[in-house]
Amino acid sequence: MAKRILTGDRPTGPLHLGHYVGSLQNRVKLQHEYDTYLLIADVQALTDNFEHPERLEANIVQVALDYLAVGIDPNRTKIVIQSMVPEITELTTYFMNLVTVATLERNPTVKEEIKQRNFTRGVPVGFWSYPISQAADITIFKADLVPVGEDQLPMIEQAREIVRRFNGLYAPVLIEPQPRLGAVARLPGTDGGAKMSKSLNNCIYLGDSSEQVRKRVMSMYTDPNRIRPTDPGRVEGNPVFTYHDVFNPNKAEVEELKQRYRAGTVGDVEVKEKLFHALEQILGPIREERNRYAGQPEMVREVLVEGTRQGREVANETMRQVRDAMGINYRFDPQVIRLTNMGFSANRDHNWLIVNSLSGAEEDNIAVCSRCGLTRSAHEGKVRVFRLKRNSFHQIDSFMHEGMVVVDMRITKSNPCQPPKKPINFEEIKNLATSQSDQLL
Ligand code: TRP
Repeated sequence: MAKRILTGDRPTGPLHLGHYVGSLQNRVKLQHEYDTYLLIADVQALTDNFEHPERLEANIVQVALDYLAVGIDPNRTKIVIQSMVPEITELTTYFMNLVTVATLERNPTVKEEIKQRNFTRGVPVGFWSYPISQAADITIFKADLVPVGEDQLPMIEQAREIVRRFNGLYAPVLIEPQPRLGAVARLPGTDGGAKMSKSLNNCIYLGDSSEQVRKRVMSMYTDPNRIRPTDPGRVEGNPVFTYHDVFNPNKAEVEELKQRYRAGTVGDVEVKEKLFHALEQILGPIREERNRYAGQPEMVREVLVEGTRQGREVANETMRQVRDAMGINYRFDPQVIRLTNMGFSANRDHNWLIVNSLSGAEEDNIAVCSRCGLTRSAHEGKVRVFRLKRNSFHQIDSFMHEGMVVVDMRITKSNPCQPPKKPINFEEIKNLATSQSDQLL
């Protein structure tokens, strides 16, 4: 089986050049070798944005557009929305017991981030403990590799520690992930600050217009001691030259600019102009792709729904193993038949044979009552009635052929659905389902 990648971003807004060289480039390259999952971590984004949950939805789309624009291939890579995989939250809760307060308090990235944001009412527990939920993000997908920027290394170390504890304590079901740093582990901001970061307002975004990029570049911090173009300038630690090193493929030009800068024979404007042109070589095509996808919101939506569906399948399987490992697999209610990954479930009135069948955006799975043939669609807990599509029958068929037949149905007298006289067979379900597909549930 192909090794797996899981990495992700908080949807706090569009992504910037720091994301690009820190991790996105790696993801684009590695998606051909690895089974890749990208998590849009909206639950994590809430940890320091909980006053504004209404911003998440639009930001999720922004991040998705950035992914697609840089070359993430939705036919390969699964883009997963974190909140739509609630199993991650469950795993986080189990992980909380495996981490001490002292360990969390030592996390250097969280410490730095706490300093950066001034939490007026103190640090929320959710923010402070997000390394634990991030460990759940990574391990629920059984990721081998996590491409990230340098600031995320403590999170991966935390995840590794948790995996060792979990596997030692319960059963070896989780995988210790490895980090993979990008070409530039930490890109400085346009202000010369240590890190490009939205909260520091020192970013060039992947979706920025040409004019915006030019403006950002032209106002970049350079050597503060250099007043006239004839003053000898410092190249080291000068973000304009750091960017030249990273983004300008014309190494000879960069060397020449550096020499002239040191000698005081080139002005900031020329150095920045050339940087702007180098950046445009990269950002131009990205911008074009981004606009193209932005014009197809339905397609982007479909990518998110399908990626999330596939991601959730992996997460569900891991959680089954996690619960088994921990022994949290008991059932007290005889009416509750285990919702296995095969997809059987029962409530008081019906035995549902759950068939993942529709690829349409909303109809995630169909449930057919194996006794009376009633159908329903279950999507995110909302029960809606819909017409069972003809072309979904073959999936029910293959389901049955794989031998996944309803077992151990315990029906009580209160069950109003009428069991068929003969043993259930596919044809029967098909016919019953057809005749009753309009019925309201
Ligand atoms: N913490 C990451 C960031 O701020 C985003 C993230 C959430 C992530 N879950 C993840 C990264 C899992 C890697 C793996 O950028």
